[in-house]
Amino acid sequence: MDLERALGLIAEVPDFPEPGVLFRDLSPLFADADGFAAVIDALAATVDPGTDVLAAVEARGFLLAAAVGYARGMGVVLVRKPGKLPNVAGRVDYALEYGSATLELPSGVVRPGQRAVVLDDVLATGGTVAAACELLEKAGATVTGVSVVMELAALDGRSALSGRKVSSLLVT
Ligand code: PRP
Repeated sequence: MDLERALGLIAEVPDFPEPGVLFRDLSPLFADADGFAAVIDALAATVDPGTDVLAAVEARGFLLAAAVGYARGMGVVLVRKPGKLPNVAGRVDYALEYGSATLELPSGVVRPGQRAVVLDDVLATGGTVAAACELLEKAGATVTGVSVVMELAALDGRSALSGRKVSSLLVT
């Protein structure tokens, strides 16, 4: 399946999780074998040679990074929602499009000097990915890129990631 058709499988759900928010649901894309493969191939191509590790944001980023990591022969660091990890290397609170949130990095999985690419499904305000980058850099990694399936241009997530290489398969 070509990439454009694969990205067309992403559903739009009005007023979720609260009124006025247009939720992008990647579930139909993930459930379609050919569409999923097309998106994973395209995402994998955005990851520069020399990248040591992929960092994935819970929850949908996990799915994407697992497949890209396998395709590219790279391990995956899980950046998690709070309360899931027994040992935490760092914690960052940040603002979301709707509400606020916290991310945590497990201890002992990022080595200083490693080059990391952050993967997630959607870049909206950029707060989530910026928090993930901050966690990785506090642990001594260098974030060399951010790759997402979909970027919501109106929310200007790139301004929260200024100076970083951002790759989006779809800007809408
Ligand atoms: C969504 C999405 C990104 C984030 C983007 O995650 O998967 O991680 O929001 O928003 P931002 O750019 O404004 O920070 P969500 O919090 O819905 O978590 P989930 O993947 O666990 O459903």
